[in-house]
Amino acid sequence: MKELESALESIRSGSYHDALRQLESLCNDGALGRQALGHRAWLYLTMGEPQRALQDYRMLQNMDPASQEVKALTALCLFELGDYADAMTAATEVLSREPRQRHAYTVLRKLQSVHGCAPGDYAEAPPPPPQEEPGNRVIFKLEDEGKSFPVSCHPLIGRYLYSLLRLVRPKTVVETGSYIGYSTCWIAQALEDNRYGHLHAFDLFMPLENYTSPILGKCRSCHDATKGHLEAAGLLDRVTLHPGDSPKKIVKTFTGLATEIDFAFIDGDHSCRGACADFSSIDKFLATGGLVLLHDTVPETVPWLGPRYLLDQLDRQQAGSYSVLNLPTPDSMGLGAIQKNAAGVAALVRPSLLYEAAERLRYGRLWFNRR
Ligand SMILES: C[S@@+](CC[C@H](N)C(=O)[O-])C[C@H]1O[C@@H](n2cnc3c(N)ncnc32)[C@H](O)[C@@H]1O
Repeated sequence: MKELESALESIRSGSYHDALRQLESLCNDGALGRQALGHRAWLYLTMGEPQRALQDYRMLQNMDPASQEVKALTALCLFELGDYADAMTAATEVLSREPRQRHAYTVLRKLQSVHGCAPGDYAEAPPPPPQEEPGNRVIFKLEDEGKSFPVSCHPLIGRYLYSLLRLVRPKTVVETGSYIGYSTCWIAQALEDNRYGHLHAFDLFMPLENYTSPILGKCRSCHDATKGHLEAAGLLDRVTLHPGDSPKKIVKTFTGLATEIDFAFIDGDHSCRGACADFSSIDKFLATGGLVLLHDTVPETVPWLGPRYLLDQLDRQQAGSYSVLNLPTPDSMGLGAIQKNAAGVAALVRPSLLYEAAERLRYGRLWFNRR
């Protein structure tokens, strides 16, 4: 007993190496061995030697398999060694038996900080409370006038785009095909309401012969109309307009930018060649888990094959790399949704580890994976 007290005194006075030597000689002592081993393991852990601490805790576990404290401390060592999956499993097993075990909570808190959804992601830019009706006066005037549809998308597609963007909260968005800026206004309005994100809009921005905007009056070109509509809606800061052939311009623009594309709306050249060229230029910069929405995927309604062709190609030939969805729409023109898959995509949508822990505590092991 005196030897153990003296080892503890060495720890208290900061003489860790003396303490280790003293504890070493006690570890094989039948009566004091377990206590000495426990102190040595903790000392190793606090000295930043989790591998050694783990060895001691494993020995202690063999001596006392029912001890939840030893199991929780083993989990702590596993965390320090970067074995997050086993640390998680051990900590949640402890909590299922001893819901107040403090070391197990420490492990969960540490796991949360390295692995979970960063609370700051959302806290930084809280979305404003939902409005009565999304949109802005420019959008409503364009809709009231009703002349731009069907070249511009259907009002319900505008609202669909808006809602999706509010949910996904992308940082960088691309649009191919703006025409007079109706869908552009919807996308920019969603980013504005998110207080986050920027849109790069690509179009040939051709001259307009006979277009009179209900907001701007006569417009000479799609560029004037799109820019004017965005300006009138107070959204110009959220958008950069890129005149020219979209596939080439996208590659040129993003090659120089250190950013990935999180979301794209493809509604430009609807030929097979055009739709595929738009997609592959976007895909070069598309983030893992990034979403691409394709407009006009029902060739029976829209006399263009491109979007359908692209969707089918990805579905048949690239399954595993992309997930593809057919979304029917009220205008019967259809939308296609594409998500880029890759190992690690779960990281983007991984739920908070604390929720996962709660689930494990309630139902035992999760059935689908082990991290
Ligand atoms: C259907 S309209 C876009 C409508 C718009 N998305 C909306 O819903 O309000 C198609 C647009 O694609 C543009 N476009 C066609 N081929 C293109 C190309 N190769 N590069 C850039 N834009 C192109 C056209 O100039 C046209 O304005």
